[in-house]
Amino acid sequence: MKHLIDPMDFSLKELEDLFELAEDIIENEDDFRHACDHKILSTLFYEPSTRTRFSFEAAMLRLGGQVIGFSEASSSSVMKGESILDTIRTVGSYVDIIALRHSKEGGPKFASQYSPVPLINAGDGGHQHPTQTLTDLLTIRQAKGQISDLTVGLCGDLKFGRTVHSLIKAMSRYENINFVLISPQELQIPEYIKMEIFNKKSIPFAEVERLEDAVERLDILYMTRVQKERFFNEEDYIRLKDSYILNKDKLKLAKKDLSILHPLPRVSEISYEVDDDSRAWYFRQVKYGMYIRMALIMKLLGVM
Ligand code: NCD
Repeated sequence: MKHLIDPMDFSLKELEDLFELAEDIIENEDDFRHACDHKILSTLFYEPSTRTRFSFEAAMLRLGGQVIGFSEASSSSVMKGESILDTIRTVGSYVDIIALRHSKEGGPKFASQYSPVPLINAGDGGHQHPTQTLTDLLTIRQAKGQISDLTVGLCGDLKFGRTVHSLIKAMSRYENINFVLISPQELQIPEYIKMEIFNKKSIPFAEVERLEDAVERLDILYMTRVQKERFFNEEDYIRLKDSYILNKDKLKLAKKDLSILHPLPRVSEISYEVDDDSRAWYFRQVKYGMYIRMALIMKLLGVM
């Protein structure tokens, strides 16, 4: 039985197979309508979500399966004091696969050790978000045709943004990726990522504070919101929240074939005027998120 807790849980070959399956689903969706007939997915979301939860649920429904779950812990027995382990054991005796989002870093990994069915980490605190990473990688494949030889700018809240942490980890395995880390001083990438990934693997990276100083050399620009819910202090959030606003003017400096990604939700970091630019990929990225989750569910259930 396999779980997906960390982006490194799949080998490069397994990832390649997953992307190929997702691309097959995109092309021939009708062929997969009954792939998960009579299977049940449970979405256990202890933290709010729109895209991640709905895309898991839509993915399962489009495969012919069924879905049960909760979208806030307050509507479950957690309120009575039930531990996550007992919840997982219980739900795992009803369903075939679980997607779990938790505010505690490491929560899904811990839960997976007791889960009787495959468990997917749908985001754990400020730590990892592997299915968003699969979405991001599939989007990059679609936009660029390959996941190599790219200069990737990551902009915004690099300290608390789990999607950024997961994406760096996953991309560090591909050839010739250069990272440009664009953030205010206070929201720089955590030191452990520099030590364990960039330094250990000798991956080139630069840190800059101004988007204007980096945008012209980028092939991919990955924008993120400032993660309000992880701040201890409201004043700091208010001071930092509008650090970056990507607009048409700033895009004039960018390459013609830049691809702009964003895991969403967007707050103010991309102006609406950018949405019509052919370089904006974030709404296509949303759709790929559902297709890659269809592929993932099939792989983990062993129906493919
Ligand atoms: C991200 C998340 O939950 O970490 N959203 C998502 O999964 N699409 C990004 C965010 O909340 O900023």
